[in-house]
Amino acid sequence: MTLITDDLAFAEDWLMHREDADALARSGFLTEQGATWLQRRLSTQSPVTVLDLACGAGANINYLAPQFPGPQQWRLVDNDAGLLHVAECRGHSLCDAGRRSLGVQAVTRDLRVLLKDSQGLDDLLSEADLVTASALFDLVSKAWVERLVTACARHGTAALFALSIDGDWSFTADGSVSADTLDDAWVRDILAAHQRHDKGFGPALGGDAPSVLTHAFQAVGYHVLNRPSPWTLTPDRDGARLLALELIKGWAEAVLEQSPQDRGRVSAWYRRRFDDLESGRIGLLVGHQDLFAMPQEHS
Ligand SMILES: C[S@@+](CC[C@H](N)C(=O)[O-])C[C@H]1O[C@@H](n2cnc3c(N)ncnc32)[C@H](O)[C@@H]1O
Repeated sequence: MTLITDDLAFAEDWLMHREDADALARSGFLTEQGATWLQRRLSTQSPVTVLDLACGAGANINYLAPQFPGPQQWRLVDNDAGLLHVAECRGHSLCDAGRRSLGVQAVTRDLRVLLKDSQGLDDLLSEADLVTASALFDLVSKAWVERLVTACARHGTAALFALSIDGDWSFTADGSVSADTLDDAWVRDILAAHQRHDKGFGPALGGDAPSVLTHAFQAVGYHVLNRPSPWTLTPDRDGARLLALELIKGWAEAVLEQSPQDRGRVSAWYRRRFDDLESGRIGLLVGHQDLFAMPQEHS
């Protein structure tokens, strides 16, 4: 399976496959912080509005809406109209924590332009009580994050950003992290370089996303909470094993793109790790971080 198709389009089946691992990994504590923030906002206005940036096929709304108080109005934003349509349909079938249906608006927008279009950014954020995103920030640049965070501060909007990769991953055996082979470490380094390629937002953050987000929110005086949200892909769960296999295939493709002269070494690494994972001898731990940030005066 190809995880990312041409022109940074994300395959719907890949996004669907990762949803279970995402839901298991996400920080319940930070979700509660988001819910508490919205509950406070509900004392002065109703419904509360949640803006989901790069919503894909709707994993984030599917996870959050039932745990958040309502009434809720969601604005789902993505540049992929097909994924956005799936997310919008899912949103209409969901309820908030009080079992009320949601208001859902789909907005087709290329988020890259927000780097230059501050009016567009203000329009998106002006009515948002909470801005959220999942699995987005490795793709964007430091400058893009700073624009977004500055706009959040201008509007007093809180942020809940889940599942930002932190660049750490390792194979596990019997539940413990197993020692890297030389080739694991080599793949990790080349993959990290590949993840930093510009995706149209400026030089991509890759595994630096969690620390860049944290510093950007602290710089505008926000109270910031971080929690690890790693994927723990143990071989005893079929879905987790398949996800790990898909993931290392995508990694091998990325390493090959970055270092085409090393085809033999990449293929040997991929075959060995594929066999280890498929046979259930090992699992895979993939580091992510979740972040909740809110204006200081409310903390
Ligand atoms: C890794 S997926 C995450 C999707 C979803 N948030 C989730 O957790 O499943 C990244 C998303 O970013 C969207 N995306 C990529 N580039 C974009 C852009 N320039 N403007 C808007 N959305 C973009 C993709 O279409 C995709 O839905």
